[in-house]
Amino acid sequence: MENKVVHVWLIEAITLPDKLKEFSKTLSKDELQKASKFRFEKDRSVFITARFLLRKLIGNYLNVNPKEIDFDYSEYNKPTYLGNTELDFNVSHSNNQIIIGFSKKLTIGVDIEKIKNDFDALDLAKNVFSNEEVNALSTYSGTSLYRAFYRGWTRKESFIKAVGEGLSYPLKSFSVTIDEDEKASFISIESKQESKQNWQLYSFIPTDGFIAAITTQGKPKRIDYFDANKIL
Ligand SMILES: CC(C)(COP(=O)(O)OP(=O)(O)OC[C@H]1O[C@@H](n2cnc3c(N)ncnc32)[C@H](O)[C@@H]1OP(=O)(O)O)[C@@H](O)C(=O)NCCC(=O)NCCS
Repeated sequence: MENKVVHVWLIEAITLPDKLKEFSKTLSKDELQKASKFRFEKDRSVFITARFLLRKLIGNYLNVNPKEIDFDYSEYNKPTYLGNTELDFNVSHSNNQIIIGFSKKLTIGVDIEKIKNDFDALDLAKNVFSNEEVNALSTYSGTSLYRAFYRGWTRKESFIKAVGEGLSYPLKSFSVTIDEDEKASFISIESKQESKQNWQLYSFIPTDGFIAAITTQGKPKRIDYFDANKIL
């Protein structure tokens, strides 16, 4: 993989029991333990598919045995691979869809969400969006309100996942654009450590009914999208 290129892999969770059994053979003991604790079969199949694909792809990129990969976890639970610090990756899943972003030399965060419309988007935005984002959102209504909410939400989540702090990061302390995908960008980041110039934001529609976003620290040369259903 070329330096500073982003690869985004999309897959629908595999639900066939035989396949899941085969995938499980590549997972570590702690991953199998985590898999056994899911209450719903659906969530278990997402976790197993995502971990199997993550291991397989790291194996392909770095020419290592997928089974022998040891993940390290940050204070906030972000998995990283100690064997090669140049390759960053991030996983996200929503419903049965999974995305995994990879980059050599760029820190990366990804988020995918299924678009739902059974809640009060403006009310929720008041708790998780900055004032500027809430004002921008209040110009939308109907289905476009929900799409704008999820564009904002996935953009924000991809950033806090790239930083690695997850929901411990103050969500109102930075603002993103919430309009069309081509215009995804950071408006402001109030932080002593992070400067908005260092971060790049991208949005895309991975599949019908879903929205996704990618944040990278530094500018990617390009972003390539792959359908992982073709390789599993
Ligand atoms: C990271 C977080 C925002 C994910 O939200 P989500 O929408 O439910 O989940 P997504 O599907 O987008 O992402 C989940 C994946 O992100 C990765 N991840 C977990 N924590 C992460 C973090 N802090 N930063 C970046 N990525 C993280 C994992 O690969 C996880 O997949 P897995 O559960 O299959 O291992 C949220 O779970 C969070 O804030 N976690 C931090 C919790 C924390 O602070 N814990 C303190 C120590 S216990």
